[in-house]
Amino acid sequence: MRRLLLFMLPILIIVTIVLVLFGILQVRSEETKLLDELKRKARAVAESMELSVRHALINNDQRSIARLVERFQKRERVQGCAIYDKDGNVLAITDRFLEWKKQDRPYIKDLLAGPKAVPRGSVEKFKQYAVYSYVFPVLDDEGKIVGLEEILYDTSYVFTQLEEIWKRLTIALLTLLMLIAGISLIVQRRIFTDPVERLTEWFKKFQKGDIDHEHPIKDKGELGKLASEVEQVALGLRVARKVVTEEAQVRMQKAELWTEAKLRDLVRAKLGENALFVVSNREPYLHMINEATGQARCVRPASGVVTAIDPILRACGGTWIAHGSANADKKFVNSRNKLGVPPEDNRYILKRVWLTKEEEDGYYYGFSNEGLWPLCHITHTRPLFRESDWHIYRKANKKFADSVLEELPSKNPFIFIQDYHFTLLPQMIKEKRPDATIALFWHIPWPNPEVFSICPYQAEILDGMLGCDLIGFHVQYHCNNFIDTANRFLECRVDTEKFSIVRGGKETFVRAFPISVDMNINSSAGREDSNNVEKIRKEYELEGKIVGLGIDRIDYTKGLAERMMAIDRFLEKYPEYRKKFVFIQIGAPSRTHIKRYHDLMGELDELAERINWKYKDDEWIPIIYLKRHFSPEELKPFYRLADLCIVSSLHDGMNLVAKEYIAAKNDLNGSLILSRFTGAARELTDAIEINPYSVEEFAASIKLAVDMPPPERKRRMENMRKIIAENNIYKWAGNIITEMTSLRKA
Ligand code: G6P
Repeated sequence: MRRLLLFMLPILIIVTIVLVLFGILQVRSEETKLLDELKRKARAVAESMELSVRHALINNDQRSIARLVERFQKRERVQGCAIYDKDGNVLAITDRFLEWKKQDRPYIKDLLAGPKAVPRGSVEKFKQYAVYSYVFPVLDDEGKIVGLEEILYDTSYVFTQLEEIWKRLTIALLTLLMLIAGISLIVQRRIFTDPVERLTEWFKKFQKGDIDHEHPIKDKGELGKLASEVEQVALGLRVARKVVTEEAQVRMQKAELWTEAKLRDLVRAKLGENALFVVSNREPYLHMINEATGQARCVRPASGVVTAIDPILRACGGTWIAHGSANADKKFVNSRNKLGVPPEDNRYILKRVWLTKEEEDGYYYGFSNEGLWPLCHITHTRPLFRESDWHIYRKANKKFADSVLEELPSKNPFIFIQDYHFTLLPQMIKEKRPDATIALFWHIPWPNPEVFSICPYQAEILDGMLGCDLIGFHVQYHCNNFIDTANRFLECRVDTEKFSIVRGGKETFVRAFPISVDMNINSSAGREDSNNVEKIRKEYELEGKIVGLGIDRIDYTKGLAERMMAIDRFLEKYPEYRKKFVFIQIGAPSRTHIKRYHDLMGELDELAERINWKYKDDEWIPIIYLKRHFSPEELKPFYRLADLCIVSSLHDGMNLVAKEYIAAKNDLNGSLILSRFTGAARELTDAIEINPYSVEEFAASIKLAVDMPPPERKRRMENMRKIIAENNIYKWAGNIITEMTSLRKA
């Protein structure tokens, strides 16, 4: 309140002074105007009488003089008239002014004695009145004064009018002051008190570790900017707090294997205060409105990038910048489009970048997924390169570049970019921040130069990527393809010893880093896990059945149709497994606005339906096709109960479903059927390898998996689990970060 008074008082004083001055001027001018009017009236009356008065005075006609004066008796108010002789004696006067005669009137004498006979007017006091007196000299033909006429008016109405003006001005002043006070109060509430209260409230929640996503600070103006700055610091602190809390535990652990804690230690040792910045198109946490309940919920998307990178940022903190693509995303960010994630236990910062529908169409659906995706996956789906998509792709990369640049600390930041959505981003960032160390990981295959030459924008894409200091692929074969492609289409020098590309004096290293999963997250086996497995077994009537499992995004690269056809062939060729074998296919709808994906959904529905119809009876169907998004927690029991898992991609960079299955099978009782066209097949040599295009081989592999003697199954599973435990996601990140820091700019 005191602050408000301090703010308002000067305004109120200034307004009062201005209005009072204005009032004085107004009243003065009104007074002059009214008196002028009286003077005019008086002169008119005097002039109209002049002739008769002169005549009467010259002839000393007392009766006429008295009559002239009498005419005023009947006039309203105290208007009156007096006639004087040339010596200033009153010859006649209106009755109501009889006492006027006793009044001291020096102006009469002055006028008669003065050199010039000019009329004059003035306000005089008479009893309780103020009277306007207008004295008019009456002259003879030679211009000598023969007497005077004095016209008298009551002026009280003039002063009543002036009083009225003052009254109105006072009311106006008071109203204005009240309005100013009211408006100031509202303004001060809106621009000061409310934001401060909100900020205080927010901080209270922050202190309790309860960040309020429902009401992020979204003020505009200077205070809003301050609030927003504070909010960023608070979010950073919160995330940092988690990391520091766990630091102590890290030092306790001296494990040989790569762990979350070991990675965190490495990051802190190598990057120091420079947090890691990750950029990807797909965000790790989406906020979606549930259409049935109208409630927003947080969803983990089906994406290899998310599966791999989320545990890393959970371990070492940092900022992940990604497209905010879900319908409630905007509701959960602060004034800088950021939020702490995971929502229930903030470990790192997610910054959401907003794209228009046009940008999403051109950059994501168009160029990335109708162009680059089929270009890099050899699955006989024709890539589509539209010029308009390319322009929007460039524009979107620029938008992300701006968003990243905004966040970077002043010295030597580390930026880790994900996938084919951002081929131009490295160069865009490097131009502005040559001190940044930039790595790009390509999560999908890289084709040979002949295939890549289909792309009309090959040179720009390669140039953009060579803005990186490090480019990673899952397997060496893709590194070789990339080096060959750059060598073929760009003017550059390839250093085959260091495995790097030098272009325009800038060197980019190319390395294979086979991505993986967090073994612990997937293999924990509590009572709750067993209950969930039993629940599913009951729900889908799987008791006593051999259960096969497939978990995929519904994508034409995943060989889903080939898989169903192989199951068909398996049941056809080995009828003894009918009623005994059930295959659960979990399919997360993906990129459904693209016709090829839309059509694929239809094809798969039809295929599953046809196969089920062919074999089913009242108690059994061979394929349970669950077509919806499942959370990682929901997937876990499916992995655990499956006797075999099929990964039949026609072409795949790595395929983390294969590794997740291995990680989840801590009972060692499961077989993996794995396409030889996945990156995972290079590491998981104990899987049953298939060519998904060969339906006979595929069907025989299913037979091999279901018939496999348990000790053999166990041996294979043990081997594969060992490989994943040793080459887990923390090792993958540790290797990349170590490599990045070795390339750090001085
Ligand atoms: C692949 C890509 C990822 C992508 C994921 C899911 O794994 O390498 O970058 O996130 O597919 O696809 P979506 O288009 O839904 O992000």
